[in-house]
Amino acid sequence: MNELRALEQDFWRAPSAHNTQPWTLTYLGTEAMVGWDPERCLPVGDPTGRDLRLSLGAFVECCLIVCASAGLRVGFRPDPGPGRVGYLYGSEQPYRTPFTTKDVRRRGTNRGRYHQGRLPDDVVERLRAHSGAHSGAHSGAHSGAHSGAHSGAHSGADVRRLACRDLAGLLHAADLRQWADADVTAELREWLRLTPRHPLYRLDGLTDQALALSGAETLALRAALAGYPALRRLGLPRLLAGAARGLLDYDGDVLVLVGPVADQVEQGRVLMRLWLELSALGYATHPLSQIVDCAATREHLAAKLGVEDPMTLLHVARVGRPLGPAARSARLTG
Ligand SMILES: Cc1cc2nc3c(=O)[nH]c(=O)nc-3n(C[C@H](O)[C@H](O)[C@H](O)COP(=O)(O)O)c2cc1C
Repeated sequence: MNELRALEQDFWRAPSAHNTQPWTLTYLGTEAMVGWDPERCLPVGDPTGRDLRLSLGAFVECCLIVCASAGLRVGFRPDPGPGRVGYLYGSEQPYRTPFTTKDVRRRGTNRGRYHQGRLPDDVVERLRAHSGAHSGAHSGAHSGAHSGAHSGAHSGADVRRLACRDLAGLLHAADLRQWADADVTAELREWLRLTPRHPLYRLDGLTDQALALSGAETLALRAALAGYPALRRLGLPRLLAGAARGLLDYDGDVLVLVGPVADQVEQGRVLMRLWLELSALGYATHPLSQIVDCAATREHLAAKLGVEDPMTLLHVARVGRPLGPAARSARLTG
């Protein structure tokens, strides 16, 4: 398992909510325990731990892909317990995946503008195959680069798509709720790195560049957050939510990951595969978790999709061809 240490920099490219990088790897002889650091969780914004488990799943998938790419035979054994989700172990077979370390390095969230246009149906079908929703999906059948349906066949997840404009109202409602909640805003603020002078700017959290903010927008956000406690009742949440008003006002797609609540780590692995598939095809993703964080908008979205249990809506992101590249997000390693 010691060989894994040399690959940590690539493991850490996994995505996580607010870029907290909550995962820990503890080497225990022939195994490495995948756990989390309570200091890097989001108890206010993510009280159920949904995004924590999705992020840990994304990390596990990332580790398996990077190990396979390096020629190491490593598997993952789920074993939820205090502070851990499971173990990486030396397996007889290499992990079967169409993705490589290059794909992991290339992927990134892009919060900039996207070209007009919906995702082709065959792309959505490919994604559904990765999630296991596809009728023809077969576990273990590795059918070439970026087309294997893979272990997603057992994940119980589904990918649903909606037109961006159909969700613009819900996004605004969720943004309003989020910015009106002083505790959620305070927690977000802890992970914002809005100036390169921030001591953690290159290590974690959300930088002005990653958020695709212009210089003027960064200054405005810093000023708004500095005045937040006093200005909250004077309409500041409306102003902050209004700044993102046009985000979904174009001809594009939003994808929703629907899956069993009981196995969110597995769903995080699915999410990682979906993002890698999209990124390999030249598409970018921009998560909009606030829609499923807020109970009212989550319920609306479930009704729109005809999904019975709103808690099974695990993740929402807009997806499209970005107009320009995104800034690379910070990491604790490297
Ligand atoms: C479970 C999960 C939820 C996320 N929710 C949001 C979100 O609501 N808004 C957003 O802009 N980014 C969201 N992100 C993206 C992260 O902020 C991003 O992955 C992190 O900053 C690292 O950047 P990268 O994806 O470019 O590597 C989410 C990521 C994950 C894994």
